[in-house]
Amino acid sequence: MKPLLIRGGRIIDPSQNMDEIANLLITEGKISHLGREKTPPQSGYDVLEAQGLIVCPGFIDLHCHLRDPGYEEKETIASGTQAAARGGFTTVCCMPNTSPPLDNQPTVDYVKSKAEAEGVILVLPIGCITKGRRGEELAEMGELASSGVIGLSDDSSPVVNSRLMRQALDYSRAFGLPIIDHCEDMALTEGGQMNEGIISTKLGLQGIPAAAEEAALARDLALAELTGAKLHIAHVSTEGSIGLIRCAKEKGIRVSAEVTPHHLTLTEERAIGYDTNAKVNPPLRTIKDIEALIGGLNDNVIDIIATDHAPHTEADKLCEFALAEFGISGFETALGSLMSLVHDGKLNLYTLIAKLTYEPAKILGDKYQKLGTIALGSPADVTIFDPDKEWVVDTKDFASKGKNTPLNGSVLKGKVMATIFRGKLVCQDNSLKIETLG
Ligand code: DOR
Repeated sequence: MKPLLIRGGRIIDPSQNMDEIANLLITEGKISHLGREKTPPQSGYDVLEAQGLIVCPGFIDLHCHLRDPGYEEKETIASGTQAAARGGFTTVCCMPNTSPPLDNQPTVDYVKSKAEAEGVILVLPIGCITKGRRGEELAEMGELASSGVIGLSDDSSPVVNSRLMRQALDYSRAFGLPIIDHCEDMALTEGGQMNEGIISTKLGLQGIPAAAEEAALARDLALAELTGAKLHIAHVSTEGSIGLIRCAKEKGIRVSAEVTPHHLTLTEERAIGYDTNAKVNPPLRTIKDIEALIGGLNDNVIDIIATDHAPHTEADKLCEFALAEFGISGFETALGSLMSLVHDGKLNLYTLIAKLTYEPAKILGDKYQKLGTIALGSPADVTIFDPDKEWVVDTKDFASKGKNTPLNGSVLKGKVMATIFRGKLVCQDNSLKIETLG
């Protein structure tokens, strides 16, 4: 691999408190120079002119669905990781709601070996909390921990039984793994299709109240306090949840939280016209919720942004609203969507990048401390994007098999130009030229 010089970009790396125009040199898969000075002269290297572009650590997604094993018609590890790379991600953590679910070592090993063989970026699996995600008995946590999962979750379902959830939190401490919590009171969401409110009433669709998320969250915060375990809240969607997490953090409960690009930028109005591509769980909420979520990001009640990339087939969505699957294909529109918050002055660019790089790396813990940084000597996982480039979302161009986004045809401002994983270009915009020197 030839050394690659990324010249004159605006380098933003929150892990080093860095925001300056500088050069970055990658040699043998590692960051070998970072600074304003000219790099040592050498021959035979490639140059990427990054003037006007942002250069930052590769994005880390703590929440996505890669669907393999079992649902390869929706996504494969090859297509999912290519889509992630196009979105600027160099590490993704995949949820265990596959078939079979990731509740034992062989299934986790399968995902890891498939990711090594056909993935273009790093894939870190998440294991189940309960066997078969059935919510009846705990999965073998020790076995999952030694297989290398980065957390435990029954995502897409909550752990309904409070006693079992308490036990899961208790045991998880011994393995230092966070419990990643899908907060949903199933009795309140049964039959629900979208956010409960005037619009659901007008559309004649059964609603999912904010209280369904908040009631489950309140229980699990109490259990995290009781057990002292690490709890990570997936896809926070309501203003009330922000209040609950804020209080929990003030009390010293070990809780972290994520929000998705779609919950930060789209409202329940997207369901008008019965667009099944806007059907997602938790549902898109109201403008008031969005404002609270952005507030939460800005004052660190929300630690990170995660996509909850949930690819589905056309058949899964081309049906009446009540029958359609929940989920949005999110990797390839994440940055463009999130940049709208920056362009509108609601979030600063530095904070956005921190929530996609350094902060998720912190949740992954010491074992992964080399991720989320482009400090000298770290693995060269780098994302380069144009903050101002406008482009039209066309799902035909997606690398993901999941074309299920309500954003098809929308104009987004902010585009990934290149993604580099361990020094290798795994995605490159057609307009970006790389020159060979020496
Ligand atoms: O919308 C969703 N889709 N929410 C989830 O919790 C699961 C996900 C999926 O797996 O499709």
